[in-house]
Amino acid sequence: MNNPEELEHEALAMFKDWLDAACKTGLHEPTAMTLATANAQGRPSARTMLLKGFDERGFVFFANSQSRKGDDLRENDYVSLCFFWQPLMRQVRIEGRTVTITAEESDAYWETRPRDSQLGAWASQQSGPLDVRETLEKRLAEAHDRFLDDTVPRPPHWLGYRVIPERIEFWKSGWRRLHERVLYEKQADGWCKSLLYP
Ligand SMILES: Cc1cc2nc3c(=O)[nH]c(=O)nc-3n(C[C@H](O)[C@H](O)[C@H](O)COP(=O)(O)O)c2cc1C
Repeated sequence: MNNPEELEHEALAMFKDWLDAACKTGLHEPTAMTLATANAQGRPSARTMLLKGFDERGFVFFANSQSRKGDDLRENDYVSLCFFWQPLMRQVRIEGRTVTITAEESDAYWETRPRDSQLGAWASQQSGPLDVRETLEKRLAEAHDRFLDDTVPRPPHWLGYRVIPERIEFWKSGWRRLHERVLYEKQADGWCKSLLYP
């Protein structure tokens, strides 16, 4: 299959196969990935995140947009994602630009989150300095009192981001360290597929 229009579907299908396989290994967080961002000065910063969905539009994660990564994304929307599934000895690297998802999509995911996580999102000023742990606990208690038995609305700064892939690379451990690398890359005339030396 080398039709440029079909290659993107092939890459997504392969990602789905690998993620499904990772889920079956019993890994605690098979959707965990490293998200690397860079600020306007090109200074990189990486952290672990959970992938919360993917389809032909891209790869979605959720975060506080007032966090350090949120600041980076406002300055530079290019990111890199990296999954490593140790039991399978497989890695997937995804690169692309990031957009925020619609408020409706963010709301839909927010509503699936446990109430404690929702209250925690109101209490945490993610990435900001915290003087003492008690301050966070006090803010959590305040959020609890504020919403009591009401549904907890989504904080406007808590939202989903979608990475629109331009490059997806699959790495599989191979015999005698001859690892296999397959690269799908978006070019001006569509997606192409190639092999890379390990
Ligand atoms: C397994 C794991 C999953 C995580 N998932 C998320 C996530 O989905 N969203 C998020 O904002 N932070 C998540 N975090 C916390 C981030 O790694 C990070 O500490 C936080 O987002 C602040 O990053 P920043 O200061 O670079 O913005 C997760 C951490 C771990 C260890």
